[in-house]
Amino acid sequence: MASEPNKSVLLASNRGPVSFRQDDAGRLHCVGGSGGLSSALAAIPPQEDALWVAAALSDADRLAARSAPSGRLDAAGYDTGTLPVRLLDIEPLTFTRAYNGIANSTLWFLHHLLFDTANTPVFDRRFRREWASYVDYNTAFAQALAEEAAPGGRVLIQDYHLTLAPQLLRARRPDLAIGHFSHTPWAPPDYFRLLPDDVAVALLEGLLAADNAGFLTERWAAAFLACCESVLGARVDRAHNTVEYAGRRTVVGVHPLGVDAGAMRARANAPDVWARMAGLRAQVGDRLLLVRVDRAELSKNIVRGLLAYRELLRRRPEWQGRVVHAALAYPSRHDIPEYREYSASVQRIAKEIVDEFGSPDWDPLLLSVDDDYARSLAAYRMGHVAVVNPIRDGMNLVAKEIPIVSDNGCALVLSREAGAAVELGDAAFLINPFDIEETAEAMHAALSLSGAERRARSAALAEAAGRCPPRGWLAEQLDALRA
Ligand code: F6P
Repeated sequence: MASEPNKSVLLASNRGPVSFRQDDAGRLHCVGGSGGLSSALAAIPPQEDALWVAAALSDADRLAARSAPSGRLDAAGYDTGTLPVRLLDIEPLTFTRAYNGIANSTLWFLHHLLFDTANTPVFDRRFRREWASYVDYNTAFAQALAEEAAPGGRVLIQDYHLTLAPQLLRARRPDLAIGHFSHTPWAPPDYFRLLPDDVAVALLEGLLAADNAGFLTERWAAAFLACCESVLGARVDRAHNTVEYAGRRTVVGVHPLGVDAGAMRARANAPDVWARMAGLRAQVGDRLLLVRVDRAELSKNIVRGLLAYRELLRRRPEWQGRVVHAALAYPSRHDIPEYREYSASVQRIAKEIVDEFGSPDWDPLLLSVDDDYARSLAAYRMGHVAVVNPIRDGMNLVAKEIPIVSDNGCALVLSREAGAAVELGDAAFLINPFDIEETAEAMHAALSLSGAERRARSAALAEAAGRCPPRGWLAEQLDALRA
């Protein structure tokens, strides 16, 4: 329990800005995170007394949370960067069922249209246990936020892990201004209706307790409005982007997220990145470099991307020996069988490509599966063509980061189903992510650009990518809550 509820701004997300690792002697080490959310927080005005509430994700995180008064890492002397952090020590089984079972299986699959009628989802007793845990997990956040927020404070709740939290918080603290932001797409109504009725209603009612519900593109916001109308029978005003339901009005906002170009370039210029570039250069030589960097999970569509590369080498043999594909596919959510199996199929197809085309003096494909951010940045800088082909993606920041740090100009083959296509579509080669032949031809067209054409496209991409930096994105949402 916090000593007094005095925080004027609160941010809540499943993953916080820091995590912990325990060494052999049992000592805990706090590791700082990077990325959009972390850098966005620098924008919270210093006069605000702000706090970030996040879940403990591992045993080491839980130990740290327990060792700190009320989970407040700053009070235990840990350096959490820009903001103080409260880490929630949620009972491990509850956390696992909520995070793996509901958030990353059901809801991730729902919003990315990944349901597979043969296997997932199955709404059975196990699902009901997971759903009960999801309610408990959201309640833990709502409780902590209610304890910490000053009267009239502003709370920004992030993502599909915390869809119920706005309503649970509103019930505890009606005085607060509550915003929710979805970093994923939102499923269209016919798809959303595949959920059990009570779950579909609870998710929508959860979000509609917020004063503002934010999305990355018009398209995801429109899908949410359509779900409110069709599932709840809520009154939707599309001219003003509002939903009226159960005596409340929620404003639905669109806030695209871009990249902090200065910070990104500075990080990409660090010595560890230069070292990885030397290694990559030794492998690639003077060939063209096709890059992709993803968490290895189903929505990123890595398998079809590799099949398209194979198709390119088969139908355009002139590229054999002249291009190297660096595919960086970092493990993600590997407690869930579907994600593990997906990583395995990425490795299988990669091996097939190497077996078919590899020769003593040419490695057609370099697949890396270790999480190494410096190596990703080296690939970002050196790539001549980037492939970002998700089945569906809220935004996809990789598509925006690569042109910003590119050394020689990087062309982009981009899925039209990524939120980033709204802003980058004019300068990218847009593809249907299911169409392997079209993707292969887009790779060919991008690789065939002259250096000058590639640099011109890359500059246009970089300009668009830097347009909505994280600071502005956060400030917009805070302002919307004040309004
Ligand atoms: O895209 C939604 C999102 O929550 C991102 O904000 C984040 O990069 C990603 O998913 C992280 O997933 P996880 O925390 O499960 O690794």
